Amino acid sequence: MSEGEGCPYRAVAIIPAAGQGKRMGAERPKQFLELKGKSILAVTLEAFERAKGICGIVVVVPAQEVAFCEEQIVKRFGLSKVVAVVPGGKRRQDSVRIGLEAAGSDYGLVAVHDGVRPFVNPEFIDKLLSEAAIKGAVVAAVPATDTVKEVDQAGHITKTYDRQKLWLAQTPQVFPYEVLLKAHQRALREGWDEATDDAFLVEQMGVNVTLIEGSPLNIKVTTPSDLILARAIMENW
Ligand code: C5P
Repeated sequence: MSEGEGCPYRAVAIIPAAGQGKRMGAERPKQFLELKGKSILAVTLEAFERAKGICGIVVVVPAQEVAFCEEQIVKRFGLSKVVAVVPGGKRRQDSVRIGLEAAGSDYGLVAVHDGVRPFVNPEFIDKLLSEAAIKGAVVAAVPATDTVKEVDQAGHITKTYDRQKLWLAQTPQVFPYEVLLKAHQRALREGWDEATDDAFLVEQMGVNVTLIEGSPLNIKVTTPSDLILARAIMENW
């Protein structure tokens, strides 16, 4: 781990990018699709490379993409903070745990960020780290602008939520390293497999997690329509 002035929180970023991207329907997983000649994952990693408070980055990719990621992303774009590129697991949850274990326990804070969210500002990453240093666990989120409904199998609405109280959790999500590692180890031991984000596992430990308002441009590129939006955002990025 590189220490020094730029590393006040001893923060490592874990970038899960080991999904197969089936919802995109493309040949290659979505994290390797390009925006203006640069893969989505490369754009994401550059933001973490530029964030002052990040001192190490662990990238988690499909096993068959490790060599490509090392050569065509890390080396090509001079990503000097990347300390490991490791093969991921079956679920996102597994990939994050593998990344945490690969990082090792010398870090103080860990920022988990989806490899398919390229529009994250380095300054916002630094803001989350400084908030986490005070509050412990923080999560980027945006207020819900649509009304959220619950439906039954026939598609009939069974419940309407109070929009004033609803936020959409994004990444980065920042935690003390030991807290997130313990949460993942417990999830593995107890067979929890409903976690779609890391905050959920930490919440289950009874730890307070605070939302920090982020940007609606920090989209997760999941479907073909997200790719259209991502290409439009990239024009002005
Ligand atoms: O599946 P979801 O949209 O939640 O994926 C969010 C991020 O987690 C993506 O960057 C994806 O590549 C990653 N992921 C992973 N390992 C998996 C599944 C998803 O690293 N097994």
